[in-house]
Parts: sequence; C-alpha cells; structure tokens
Amino acid sequence: MDFDFDLYSRETAQNPWPAIKAMQEAGPVLRNVRTGAYMVTTDKLARNVLTDTTRFTIEGTAVTIRFGKEAFFGIDDKALHDKLRSIWMGAFTRPAMEAMRPMITQLADEMIDPVEEKLRAGETVDLEAELCRSLPAYVIAHMMGVPRSYRDDVVRWSDALGAASVLPANADKQTHPAWLAAYKARDEIGAYLAEAIAHRRKNPGGTDLISQIVHSSHNLPDEFIVSNSRQMLYAGNETTAKWLGHIVVALDERKDVRREVLADPKLMPQALEEVMRWRPVVMASVRLVKPGGTEIEGVRIPEGTTIMPVVGCANRDPARYENPEELDIHRKFQTNLGFGFGMHSCLGVTLARLEAQIVIERLLARIPDYEVAGDVIYNAFALRGPKVLPIAMH
Ligand code: HEM
Repeated sequence: MDFDFDLYSRETAQNPWPAIKAMQEAGPVLRNVRTGAYMVTTDKLARNVLTDTTRFTIEGTAVTIRFGKEAFFGIDDKALHDKLRSIWMGAFTRPAMEAMRPMITQLADEMIDPVEEKLRAGETVDLEAELCRSLPAYVIAHMMGVPRSYRDDVVRWSDALGAASVLPANADKQTHPAWLAAYKARDEIGAYLAEAIAHRRKNPGGTDLISQIVHSSHNLPDEFIVSNSRQMLYAGNETTAKWLGHIVVALDERKDVRREVLADPKLMPQALEEVMRWRPVVMASVRLVKPGGTEIEGVRIPEGTTIMPVVGCANRDPARYENPEELDIHRKFQTNLGFGFGMHSCLGVTLARLEAQIVIERLLARIPDYEVAGDVIYNAFALRGPKVLPIAMH
C-alpha cells in the first residue's frame, strides 16, 4: 500500500508519533511514495527483515559508506562478521562493564558539577550540550585508548557522520555539504587511527580496544582495523547521547515515574528500557532487498529496494504491547527493538545501559527537581533524540 511519509521534515523530527500511528493503521507493509522505500510496521515483520539475511542485506547501505566496507556493522557474511565482532566481545561483557562503573561515575559527577552550579545560580542549562552529548563519547574514547586531547574531536567527527546518516537518500553524495563533512570526518578519523595503529604495532602490551584489534590473533590488515575502529568510535556515542536526552525528557513529562525511581532505584533499569521502547533512538533501520527480489505479506518488492523496519512502529505494536502508547515502567518485560535484533544487534548495549543508569542516577541524586525549561528540539527522524534540551531548577 502506498503511504506518504515525509521522513525528513522538521515536523516529523519534532513529533513523529501521529505519523507512526497513521503508518500502523495503514498496514504492515507500506511503500513510501516520496522515496520508493518500503516500510514494515509490525514487530514481527521488523524482526524478520533484521534476521533474514538470505533476502535482505545491510551491505551497500549508508553504514558501509560512512565506516568503510570492512566494518562488521556492514558485513552480511556471518563467519567474517562474527570473527570481527568477537575481537571486542570480551570488552563489553557485564563484568568488564562493571569494572568501568567508577570511571563513568566520576566522569558523570565531574560533568554535572558545573551544570549543578549554573542551575543553583538560577541559570537555564542545555543538558544535551553540557552532559548528554559528550559523556558517552568520552567513555568510548577512553575505552579505545584515545587521549583526552582528542576526545572533543570524537564528538565533532561523530556529529558529522551522524548528520549524513539522516540525510534524504537522494541527497547527492558527491556534493551535499553534510556528505562532504562526513567524508572529511571519516578521513580525519582514518588519519588519527593510522597513527594510533602504527604506535600500537611498535608498542604492544596495551589493553585498550585499538590495541586489542591491532594485536588480535586474526592479524588483520590496517584497512580492517581502521574501518572497525571508526565504526566503534561513532556507534559508541551518538546513540547513547540521544537516549540520555529522551530519558531526561520522559522523567520530566512523567514526574510520577521520576518520584518512583527516586524512591526505589531498583526500578531504574526497567524504567530506562521502557523509555527505549516508547521513544527509541533508532526509529528505523535500513536494509536492501537482495538479488531476485522478495515478497512480504503478499507484496512483491524488487531487488535493490530499500526496506525500513520502522522501530518506532514496531515498539508500539499493539499485538505485542498492551496500551503501547503509554509509558508504563511496570509492564511485563519483553525485549523491544531499540537495540536492534539478529546478527547486527547492538554490541554496546551493556555499556549504553550502564552509562544511562549512572548518568540518570547521579543527575537525580544531585538535581532531583530539574524541569525542562523551554523547547526541546529534536534532530531528525531516523536517529532521533533531543539536540537542544534546556533544563532549570525550580
Ligand atoms: C542507547 C544507545 C544505543 C542504541 C540505541 C544503539 C542501537 C543500535 C542498533 C539499533 C543497532 C543495530 C542497527 C541495525 O541492525 O541496523 C546497533 C548496532 C551496533 N551498535 Fe549500538 N546502540 C547504542 C549504543 C552503542 C554503544 C555504546 C556501542 C559501543 C560502544 C554500540 C556499538 C554498536 C555496534 C558496533 C553495532 C553493530 C553490531 C553488529 O553489526 O554486529 N552501540 N546499535
């Protein structure tokens, strides 16, 4: 069925929920008349698209262009993908993450210090700029072994790569300023990594993530190390920054939930997960139909067509969630698609959860009565979160 969805408008970025509802009501498989891409709107179909690599591919999507074709995020070949992903799996286990708790807590407190000071002086603070945007970037930079002097470059590079990821598919990749900025960021990260890799080859024994991939038993050529490290520097921060923003806004809109988690911190993990279901950061993933074409729910779709599992719809699928539009931190737990599904599901999920838990706990401990104090401005639809988030204390 044809559906007119303006993925790229300011209105959609700001408030996508009426369109999400209209899509759900229009049907499970929709062809966007503006772009020709197909959108699947149920949880079940979204999971099918994300897992069926015989019919759908991530190769050739913008992921490959931004990170390089050797990054495992953009590789379907399961054996190669798993080999590359396995290099860092140990670094993201729960025990490894727990070991990072003191470092992340200290960083959060250091970054909240000036925020608290300004709020207590009666100022309004853009929390996205002063805390949410940078903290996850600093954490992944630390894990990768990137020196502090470069950590704001990591934010800048990620912003440039992120801006290209939400451009219309027909934006000219040779001339559009955001694509040019993304290529520049990609090359700057590449140049930085080339030096970092050479240094580690000469100085083995480091434990950071770049050292781990440089000295892995797979003896990878440099282009693999660069592409995979580039993807890691980026994937590890932009998304978490936006999730933090969503949580801060949700706990403002629902002060009852804020009071509940303050009274019983054990509720925090399920509250965070429910915000992810309700307002996911990755509102839609992207795949391409493989050669030969395919059929979904009786709809014939030619090869090369873009397919979007619309997570914003799937996470509010009434067949899976009761009262899906309600933020309900006590609902029966069911995994949602906010961190993906299948072989490309998020490698950094445990880190993201730990960061969110620590940052929100520290924020609420120190500024329990913050209020959103102005318009929250959202960046885009596909990778969505607050880019301006003014808060004040009353
Ligand atoms: C709130 C924070 C985060 C969200 C919402 C998120 C979301 C996602 C999603 C939806 C995918 C799958 C995309 C697809 O299949 O098209 C994914 C993959 C990935 N994420 Fe995350 N992510 C977050 C944080 C992180 C962090 C902190 C890291 C690393 C430090 C990370 C690293 C990755 C990597 C490497 C992949 C590719 C996995 C693969 O291809 O095997 N992410 N993420």
